[in-house]
Amino acid sequence: MRKKIVAGNWKMNMDLAEGLKLAESIHKYFSEKPAEKATVILCTPFIHLSGVHEIVKHGKVFLGAQNCAAEASGAYTGEVSAWMVKSTGAEYVILGHSERRSYYNEDDRLLNKKTMLALNAGLKVIFCCGEVLKEREDNKHFLVVKRQLEEGLFPLAAELIDKIVIAYEPVWAIGTGLTATPDQAQEMHQYIRDLVREKYGNDTAKKLPILYGGSCKPSNAAEIFSKPDVDGGLIGGAALKKEDFIGIVEAVK
Ligand code: PGA
Repeated sequence: MRKKIVAGNWKMNMDLAEGLKLAESIHKYFSEKPAEKATVILCTPFIHLSGVHEIVKHGKVFLGAQNCAAEASGAYTGEVSAWMVKSTGAEYVILGHSERRSYYNEDDRLLNKKTMLALNAGLKVIFCCGEVLKEREDNKHFLVVKRQLEEGLFPLAAELIDKIVIAYEPVWAIGTGLTATPDQAQEMHQYIRDLVREKYGNDTAKKLPILYGGSCKPSNAAEIFSKPDVDGGLIGGAALKKEDFIGIVEAVK
């Protein structure tokens, strides 16, 4: 049985004090009422990481970043390496989010490099994939996701894949209020699991968590998460409100 995961992606929201306050309230809630069915992760901006780690380190909530550099160290002004992320106490990093792919031109090759660096630093990677609306309308969504995984992830050796969580996020559903139907999510998640099975075998495919992301809310999460290949969610907007985020975690059955 795969344990489900609910990961909050705070994106570029909240100053340090606001972020610590939200982390504190989520930490307190799950310390008193542990989420038995789900692993809870907060993926914060870099500047929040060490402060949030101080709050959650003895609790039930895990910590992640939203990006890391494509180089290990050196003269890269403004960048933050995977190793630096790890040194804050974070255990996860989101890579390949569609906002990074589109606004910062991160392509599959670069994402593979970042993934290798993150794994070498000892982080687990939440690797995002997903098609834009036009690609779905043109019935190219399976091809696009296949390419993203084949070029970004499948160069990895088999023993590294258990450090990977895949997040399927149809770009047309991110922050738009449009959600993939539970059947659309299941169809793509099953397809992704089949690709992983072909490449790495059945045992690996069965163990790999595949999250859904895109306008998840407390009101739609239970139905999406009930699908057999949907192992939880990557949550943007709703992760910024304690009640909504907790509601989504509690939708995991
Ligand atoms: P959303 O974002 O929940 O606000 O749609 C999800 C994501 O981008 O990870």
